[in-house]
Amino acid sequence: MTATATAPATANGPTIASIQAHIERSIDDLLASLPSPDDLSAEERRGVIARYTAVLEGNFIYWMTGAYLSVGSDEARAKIIDNLREEVRDCHPGMMRRFAMAARAVPTAADAQAVYRNLMNVRLFIGRLEGVPITVTMAFFEGFISRFMPYLAELARRQGSTELEYTDVHGVCDVTHTEELFRALEAEMVLAPPASENDTFEGVELLRTLIRNVVVNN
Ligand SMILES: [Fe+2]
Repeated sequence: MTATATAPATANGPTIASIQAHIERSIDDLLASLPSPDDLSAEERRGVIARYTAVLEGNFIYWMTGAYLSVGSDEARAKIIDNLREEVRDCHPGMMRRFAMAARAVPTAADAQAVYRNLMNVRLFIGRLEGVPITVTMAFFEGFISRFMPYLAELARRQGSTELEYTDVHGVCDVTHTEELFRALEAEMVLAPPASENDTFEGVELLRTLIRNVVVNN
C-alpha cells in the first residue's frame, strides 16, 4: 500500500501544524531571552561563541546522521542526505572552527565541561533513534540556528573578527528548506504517529536546555 500524503490524526498526538507552532514558539522564546550584546563583557562574548562551537563543531553531523538512521520514509531520508552532503562537501566543521579562531573563542576544556551534562543528555536522546522525535528536534535546531546567526555574528564582530562565513552560510532562512523538512516530518508521522506531546518534544526540550546553557552558561 502506498503511504498517503497526510499524517493521520491520533487521539493524543500532535498534528504537523501544532508541531510547527510549538517549534516556532520555542525559537521565539529562546531568541527573546538572549542577553543584549551591549551587556556582555569580552569574556562573556568569548564564552558564548566557545560553548556554541564546543556543541556544534563535533555534533551537528553526528546528530543529523542519527536522524538519517532513525527515519523510515524516502522523503525524510532524501531531505536529510541533502543536508549531510552539504555539511561534508563544504566542510562546515572547518567553517565553524575558523569562525571560533578568528573571534579568539576556540573552546577550552572549561568550555567543554560547562556544556558536558546537557550535551550528553541530547546525545543519549539521539541514540534512541526515534524517527519522529529526532526529526522534530532537528527541525527546531535548524530553525534556531538560522535565526541565531545575526546575534552570533554580532558577538564575533565585537571580538574583532571579520571571518563570518559560518554565520553568513547558516543565517539564510530558507522557506523552501523549512517546508521540505515539514513534508519529511509528515511522511515520518504516517509511518509512526507520535503517541503524545511529551514523546514528540522531549528532544526539543533537551536541546533548548543545552542552548540556554550555551548562551547564558547555566
Ligand atoms: Fe552546517
